[in-house]
Amino acid sequence: MAYVLGIETSCDETAASITLNGRTVLSNIVYSQIDIHTIYGGVVPEIASRKHIDKIIWVIDKALSDANISKEKLDAVAVTYSPGLVGALLVGVSTAKALAYALNKPLVPVNHIQGHIAANYIAHPELEPPFVCLVASGGHSHILHMKDYREFDILGCTHDDAAGEAFDKVARVLGLGYPGGPKINELAKTGDKNAINFPRPKSGFDFSFSGVKTAVINYVHKEDQAGREINRADVAASFQEAVCSVLVENTIAAAKSVNCSTIALAGGVAANTHLRAEMQKAAEQNNMRFFCPPISLCTDNGAMISCAGYLNYISGVRADLTLNAVPQLSLI
Ligand code: KG4
Ligand code: ZN
Repeated sequence: MAYVLGIETSCDETAASITLNGRTVLSNIVYSQIDIHTIYGGVVPEIASRKHIDKIIWVIDKALSDANISKEKLDAVAVTYSPGLVGALLVGVSTAKALAYALNKPLVPVNHIQGHIAANYIAHPELEPPFVCLVASGGHSHILHMKDYREFDILGCTHDDAAGEAFDKVARVLGLGYPGGPKINELAKTGDKNAINFPRPKSGFDFSFSGVKTAVINYVHKEDQAGREINRADVAASFQEAVCSVLVENTIAAAKSVNCSTIALAGGVAANTHLRAEMQKAAEQNNMRFFCPPISLCTDNGAMISCAGYLNYISGVRADLTLNAVPQLSLI
């Protein structure tokens, strides 16, 4: 029996959670800063760090009280240390260090991407490696072959923008605000996905989303200059279709290349209802099992960090008090 506190502050959610043995969520508290950053049209790193400092103790205390356990009962303190905004990460890392030191508990470092993947284990206790996982978020787009819980190969990645980044930028061009993913997802429901043929570049199992983003910007400007009113729902649906079709095609092809018949989705973009439906359809057509976390566990949260932290903890992964935030991607 291991109670693990998971702390997540890599971007604009201040989050903490307690899980038992990495699969049972006893509490999962997320303080979302979205309302604050919406005013600026995107995440302002300095404000994110300050807000994390305001809220971090509150989310941890609430996670403990909702789980109905005292901090002395914790077996480990797990924290996201990479990748993310450095000032934001440092709040979680410093708090986790202080807690681990004061309580004399193991400090367990967690890679944020590893956390996103772990959200699947919480939702689907029957899921075990090997499987192929598409991780698509605001900062990453990777296809990983999960050979074991902590062992993987990278089969594909983006050459430029991450999928979520493209959603956010296109939403800004369409005047939908931040965060763009959910707004485009909603608007696209009333649009025609075949209205505009945006580019779908890929090379092998890799992606490139900067071209489709530029194509949308050019389309909007061209129509604007010609004095034609654009149908924003059609643009949203066509853009979403272009991005999702590449994500689905590459994930299925990558899974086939390693003879794997189980696929999973992870990361904020996995909350996209069109992507979920299309991936499910493609998996069925190819006789593959398909797993996806519930929408609430796709975007950043503490439970996924606690679960990944548990997997690291039982493998003996520990950090000492020199643990630092690492902003750039380092898949461990
Ligand atoms: O995983 P996440 O919460 O944070 C990062 O690690 O980056 O992902 C946030 C990203 C944002 O780019 C957001 O626009 C996107 O996930 N996202 C979505 C949806 N919900 C969130 N993208 C498409 N459709 C959605 N429903
Ligand atoms: Zn994330």
